[in-house]
Amino acid sequence: MTNPPIHERASVSERIDLAALPHDFLWGTATSAYQIEGAVDEDGRSPSIWDTFSHTPGKIDNDDHGDVACDHYHRWREDIALMKQLGTNAYRLSIAWPRVVPGGDGPVNPKGLAFYDALVDGLLEAGITPSVTLYHWDLPQVLQDRGGWPERDTAEHFAAYASDVAERLGDRVTHWATLNEPSCSAWIGHLEGKMAPGATDLTAAVRASYHLLLGHGLATRAIRAAAPNAKVGIVNNLSTVFAATDRPEDVAAARRHDGHVNRWWLDPVHGRGFPADMRDVYGVELPERPGDLETIAADLDWLGLNYYFPATVADDPDGPAPRARSVRRPGVPRTGMDWEVDPTGIETLLLRLTDDYGARRLYITENGSAFPDVVRPDGTVDDPERQEYLVRHLAACASAARKGAPLAGYFAWSLLDNFEWAYGYAKRFGLVHVDYRTQVRTIKGSGHRYAEIVRAHRGRARRAA
Ligand code: FCB
Repeated sequence: MTNPPIHERASVSERIDLAALPHDFLWGTATSAYQIEGAVDEDGRSPSIWDTFSHTPGKIDNDDHGDVACDHYHRWREDIALMKQLGTNAYRLSIAWPRVVPGGDGPVNPKGLAFYDALVDGLLEAGITPSVTLYHWDLPQVLQDRGGWPERDTAEHFAAYASDVAERLGDRVTHWATLNEPSCSAWIGHLEGKMAPGATDLTAAVRASYHLLLGHGLATRAIRAAAPNAKVGIVNNLSTVFAATDRPEDVAAARRHDGHVNRWWLDPVHGRGFPADMRDVYGVELPERPGDLETIAADLDWLGLNYYFPATVADDPDGPAPRARSVRRPGVPRTGMDWEVDPTGIETLLLRLTDDYGARRLYITENGSAFPDVVRPDGTVDDPERQEYLVRHLAACASAARKGAPLAGYFAWSLLDNFEWAYGYAKRFGLVHVDYRTQVRTIKGSGHRYAEIVRAHRGRARRAA
């Protein structure tokens, strides 16, 4: 690997307060099953809602789909070797429910579990701690056909599948996440219709949100029963929220938006129930049964924060719930996703989880940026904007840790360029470039930069020991 130039090298330790991060900090990368695996009909995997959605014409840019993706299902050994080259000591992966339990509920598919079993062993052999997410949006289509997340049964089936996986991997995996970004499943998948299953129905969306969180609680219990050493958490994508103006209408809209993307997902798992103001905003009766709220509020070992961008909103009286419309802040830099770059958000949210929710342990489970990368004639990929994004966000994380946030690890999104959901392959988030024609992987400048930061932190930890 080539090192970045000396003048830039000096700046990393100057810019990130590495001493604020614990010695055993997890330096990781993250991916998810449908975005990288491919092999969608191999070894008994059944279709997920994302197979269906991505094969529905017009839903995905360029009509891309995950049939092959990064072919990780066959190239995982090479991908572990990349993680070693980056010097990372952790990897966040997700397990495809339709590989493990192709019928949605019922018998386990031994070949599906065998894949993850080998992957986990390969990671451990490489000195990389696996952090396993059980649901990263790929619901078995058979369960969608029976109603999907708006139905209570789906939560029960999720817990049964979680138990199957924990039973098999729990002797080696201790880091478990139940759900990835349930707000996207509920709101983008069932209200905005821009993600699978593509519904636009507030009642379905609210019911889905409820059953996702119920599934989280039931699965937490199931994982602990099957794997006594498990440390269980949930992964939420949160945003700092600003009102576009100080007009009372806009301030109220910001409060609603905060309820929609943040509080609705944090309050119930912290034993506070579903926020009353948002129940009024949605006006949908929750499918609540006695004991559910206690189940949802299962004790958490850690919280995962996926942070990408802040939101600035104005009142939108006639718009869909939560009646808040996004407004562009002039002069704020943006990524290739048109998402604002604002590292202060990651610090604010880490401190909010610490101070307002009493988080015991926090991980940044995703953070990263897409930019239109160019492979140079010499085969290298330089990505100064992504490097800058990475360094600035890590600096903000370290600052939060310095102020008391119990931050125990950072997982860069993503190890590889991959299938970016509705945006297909056009948006590249990887620290490693993937040529989808040849499947050639090339570590980008940001990957080298990340490796350098990891080395710097490790060197410091070693000297301090
Ligand atoms: C998050 C998703 C992840 C990836 C990033 C860019 O919302 O969890 O799969 O697509 O955004």
